[in-house]
Amino acid sequence: MELKPEQFKRMLTLPVTVITTVDGNGVANAAPYGCVMPILRPLDLVAIASALPRHTLHNIRGTGEFVINVIGTPSFDKAMLTARDYPPEVEGLREVGLETSPARTVSPPRIADALG
Ligand SMILES: Cc1cc2nc3c(=O)[nH]c(=O)nc-3n(C[C@H](O)[C@H](O)[C@H](O)COP(=O)(O)O)c2cc1C
Repeated sequence: MELKPEQFKRMLTLPVTVITTVDGNGVANAAPYGCVMPILRPLDLVAIASALPRHTLHNIRGTGEFVINVIGTPSFDKAMLTARDYPPEVEGLREVGLETSPARTVSPPRIADALG
């Protein structure tokens, strides 16, 4: 079977996650990422596919830290608004009204009502 571009989405559903990061000044950033895949058992490694110009990628390369937030229905609409292209100094999380709480082991905040 040969798939046309975009047809794969009907066969392979992708998760809706929001990756939170911080830049070198500690300013938090958030962006939806669907291309997130656990690899290797016990599934404690995660592969992320990112376009090169993303602030998210820049921040991860700079700090080595990120949080993958799995979003439930209540925050879904707000989470999607983080896809807007905010300037780096603007906290998109605050702009869209998503509440955060500190992560246990890394600097980027977690989205307060993310699953898990
Ligand atoms: C549902 C959804 C899933 C997305 N998944 C990805 C992805 O897997 N990889 C990626 O590079 N961009 C993805 N994007 C696009 C980024 O979220 C978007 O370009 C965002 O503005 C990047 O923000 P940043 O520059 O602050 O990182 C996705 C967007 C949406 C709405």
